[in-house]
Amino acid sequence: MESRFTSFVGGPTGPWKIVSLRAVCGDGIPQASHLELRDGLNEVEDATWQLRGVASNLRYTQESERKALAAVQPALGRAEARCAALIPIRKTAAWWLLAQDERRAIVEEQSRHIAIGMAYLPAVARKLFHARDLGEPFDFLTWFEFAPEHAAGFDALLQALRASPEWDYVDREVDIRLARVR
Ligand code: HEM
Repeated sequence: MESRFTSFVGGPTGPWKIVSLRAVCGDGIPQASHLELRDGLNEVEDATWQLRGVASNLRYTQESERKALAAVQPALGRAEARCAALIPIRKTAAWWLLAQDERRAIVEEQSRHIAIGMAYLPAVARKLFHARDLGEPFDFLTWFEFAPEHAAGFDALLQALRASPEWDYVDREVDIRLARVR
């Protein structure tokens, strides 16, 4: 059975070559040449770093949004999606003190995260991993796959999200861009 738990392993080998790795805010992580996604949480030998996450249930998405997303969102692993981004994110202590409805209001009513993101589907395939409750250094590991011709659009999406009120609550973010090599 495919595990809900995934390790993103930066190191000397892997099917994804790391094209760039930079801290957007807060501390960065060490440079590595390649990335491999592995099922499970077991420690990988020779890793430069290993970030762990778990695919979880929806928190903020409402029914109409869930259905609209399901109708357009592509699967991971498309042959044409030779580019990817791994963006680990941590949110502030103030964020985690808020109630569920307050966080939903920031994510969508104030920031339009889902509405903005929806415009980039089906070009971008995505998967969200939760890491906070695993005691990891980041709260989320976000993963995106797209064809090279959609890289500029992906950058525009990031610019819009990073300018939104939700990102006032982001205190650590690393932007890792990848190209598929096998
Ligand atoms: C490609 C278009 C995108 C769509 C359609 C999209 C959609 C969503 C949805 C529906 C959720 C809520 C999941 C839930 O109900 O728990 C979510 C959460 C999240 N997304 Fe996006 N998103 C997109 C792009 C991005 C990008 C580019 C980033 C990172 C820079 C990002 C970072 C996050 C994070 C960190 C969360 C978790 C927020 C939290 O639980 O506090 N998303 N996204």
